[in-house]
Amino acid sequence: MAAAIQTTKLTKSYNSRSGKVNVVDHLDLHVEEGEIFGFLGPNGAGKTTTIKMLLGIIYPSFGEGYVLGKEIGDMDVHRLISYVPERPYYYEHMTGLELLKFYGSLFGINDPALFERLLEKVNLHRDKDKTISQYSKGMQQRIGLAQSLLNDPKLLFLDEPTGGLDPIAHREIRDLILSFRDEGRTVFISSHELSEVELICNRVAIINKGVIARQGKLTDLLRGGRIEVTVDGFESAEAFLKALPLKDTNVRTLPSGFLLDMPELEDTSSVIDSIRGAKGKILSIVPRKKRLEDLFVETVSSKQPSKTITVEESAGANQ
Ligand SMILES: Nc1ncnc2c1ncn2[C@@H]1O[C@H](COP(=O)(O)OP(=O)(O)OP(=O)(O)O)[C@@H](O)[C@H]1O
Ligand SMILES: [Mg+2]
Repeated sequence: MAAAIQTTKLTKSYNSRSGKVNVVDHLDLHVEEGEIFGFLGPNGAGKTTTIKMLLGIIYPSFGEGYVLGKEIGDMDVHRLISYVPERPYYYEHMTGLELLKFYGSLFGINDPALFERLLEKVNLHRDKDKTISQYSKGMQQRIGLAQSLLNDPKLLFLDEPTGGLDPIAHREIRDLILSFRDEGRTVFISSHELSEVELICNRVAIINKGVIARQGKLTDLLRGGRIEVTVDGFESAEAFLKALPLKDTNVRTLPSGFLLDMPELEDTSSVIDSIRGAKGKILSIVPRKKRLEDLFVETVSSKQPSKTITVEESAGANQ
């Protein structure tokens, strides 16, 4: 599949009191067409700076990048992309409909049926004559998404699309983003909402202090969960351990029975067979999936984020 975004050593430096600082540092980013890509990182990691370079709003200090096959800075690509910033500023006296008309006019679009369709899509049809100042935060996000669809973009950049929203508004925005993907668009999202990202993104990059510390498919990055098996029927933890076909395993004694904590990648069925073969009674088997939050904390709290670890696409893996 073609790359929607491809960067090589993309770098942005600013002068600070202590000298020149690379706030985005030799970024190699790869986003495929048609995917929802999550761009994650702590505050100040360089997410917005990266998005602004990809959009041609600021110039890279070093490196290069392509957006939909066009070199960054090539303004032709603006017809094919759209951007909803972190803190959108809209004219508050405009109504939702007027706002779409206004932004439409910037693209030379004057299509009342399109405005109606977009208002319906973001569920603001009934509120189209309210002013932006009367819109809630969630409604403002939704009108922003409607506005971002005016030019029928192939690629959308959404910087913190669900920041400060309640769970219902989250879900509405999530469903809209999924519908963009279903329409064949590529979506590049910067977000701190990790559970949200886990639900909708197929690939992510984690940037820390300007450097990509992790990049790959979520299914690959989140491998390595654990499985907890609770058993009874053994005289001691040692007897239980002896019955297991595993080395270096962790077994805890519980008030009733024993708890085996093993990596997800082990062959679970052979472990279960061994326990049964030794007349053990299995009380429960609980998978403990690795969460994106675990990966994020593990990644950004490591002191040396300078090494890029890219998880290779595993052939045939879904998502
Ligand atoms: N114009 C500028 N001049 C100097 N430093 C800047 C400038 N713009 C951004 N920075 C610095 O670059 C770093 C990255 O900022 P950026 O806004 O890209 O972070 P971010 O990952 O989007 O953070 P957040 O999650 O808070 O939105 C920060 O340390 C910021 O202070
Ligand atoms: Mg930002």
